[in-house]
Amino acid sequence: ATQAATPQWRPELHYTPHKYWMNDPNGPVFYNGVYHIFYQYNPMASEWGNMSWGHATSTDLLHWQEHAVAMPFSHDRDIFSGSVVVDRNNTSGLGTADKPALVALYTSVFKEGSSHSAGIQAQSLAYSLDGGFTWQAYHKDPVLTLSPDSMHFRDPAVSWYEPGHYWVMTTVVADAPVVKLYRSDNLIDWTFLSDFGPAGFTRPGMLWEMPSLFPLPLDGDASRQKWVMMIGVNPWSIAGGSGTTYFVGSFDGRTFHAENLPPDGSDPAAYDWADHGADHYAAILFSGGPAATPLTIGWMNNWDYANTVPTEPWKGQMTLPMTLGLKTINNRPRLCFAPDAHYTALVASRKSYSPGAFQLASGQKVLPDAARGDVLDIHFEIQGNGARSAGLIVRASPDDGTGTRIAYDFDRHTLSVDRSHSGRTDFSPRFSREHIVNMPPARSLSVHVIVDRNSVEVLSLEGSVVITDLIFPPSGADHVIAFAEGGSATFTHLDVTPLMDHGVR
Ligand code: FRU
Repeated sequence: ATQAATPQWRPELHYTPHKYWMNDPNGPVFYNGVYHIFYQYNPMASEWGNMSWGHATSTDLLHWQEHAVAMPFSHDRDIFSGSVVVDRNNTSGLGTADKPALVALYTSVFKEGSSHSAGIQAQSLAYSLDGGFTWQAYHKDPVLTLSPDSMHFRDPAVSWYEPGHYWVMTTVVADAPVVKLYRSDNLIDWTFLSDFGPAGFTRPGMLWEMPSLFPLPLDGDASRQKWVMMIGVNPWSIAGGSGTTYFVGSFDGRTFHAENLPPDGSDPAAYDWADHGADHYAAILFSGGPAATPLTIGWMNNWDYANTVPTEPWKGQMTLPMTLGLKTINNRPRLCFAPDAHYTALVASRKSYSPGAFQLASGQKVLPDAARGDVLDIHFEIQGNGARSAGLIVRASPDDGTGTRIAYDFDRHTLSVDRSHSGRTDFSPRFSREHIVNMPPARSLSVHVIVDRNSVEVLSLEGSVVITDLIFPPSGADHVIAFAEGGSATFTHLDVTPLMDHGVR
């Protein structure tokens, strides 16, 4: 049966394909002033299958144009996730000095009747000489196999390792689970380097997917560079189902050593999570941009319920692209997310509702119309004056209690997003209701919230704490409500910026 379309949930700021199924971002790349994303796409239906690389471009990371499918599935294979690099020095010989090839490394999943047994996964290469619009399969195919063959060898992420002047690839044997590192001089011939995988982290049935390895200066100091290994974990993530964890450490060109392993390795909460919400998976970096401030994008969804989310005629959307930094927070190096300059400029260009500091006795205060909208940027800072907790309810309808609750608990020092009354939640029993993060004790807390038609992205502690959650609110639930519980709280700062009054699109 055809379902009714749900334009009320089509995000404004986040990429969605016009129709059908999308999962992981693949090969995001900045080339000639244009951001490209490719992505896991089913060109035939709103459910996972027929995996191909869809394609979209943007010049500001806010408005996207969808293009023809870049690499379609075929009779002999599905095309799983991977990455794209700009081969500026023509190491592959596939381009020319003034017209570098874009080179994609991706996973081929072979089918019955192909050169491999059905289900075998291996890494293949394709290249584009027209800036990413059309792709040619390389004649040696695949370029990297595992011996013995594996049904779970996938997700190559490639980057240039400057100190050694070679390419490094991270892949996974997803069900081991283990990250495998390789090197190459030409993107075609790959040599095994090492494995990474702390045994204490793994759980029965846990898959590792979409690994990426990249350097970041600690606290902006290039002489204190560290390496980050970011990995998609499914299931057993911190919010249930699929999520993104990371390890911080060193890389000597061959082996990655994690430095942030918790002493008691058996508790998932003891590890560092890029996101504490339910809907941030398969995060990967853009290549081709400035290395000092890498840009990341993820799939805003969760394998626990992705096939049943109630959006039509599309299923699947991306997170807002964000820049990554590494900062010392509570004596630990933490991966920090921040919206990029295009988004910040958009917010700055709009009129905000900024009432100045106010105190709220135990209870709720519906903010005025100037702070209404279903696409909002919000900054707030709260201080407890006896309140047990305080925060904001977004996408709220004051009459019937609908809303997504963002709360700081002053006693427990937790930040939480509660989506149990956010709208539709009935499409899956595994749509988790509340996501709670332990925070260091503090008397006040600053929070940044990005609200879109069907999502919230909550950032705090300099972007080291992120909670990304899908929501499916009823039309018209566009109020913001400030609240305090068990005593009064002071909103020392509040800015609510409606982003849709002049139309982003
Ligand atoms: C991650 C993932 C990848 C795989 C792709 C298949 O979400 O499972 O491991 O390449 O999606 O669509």
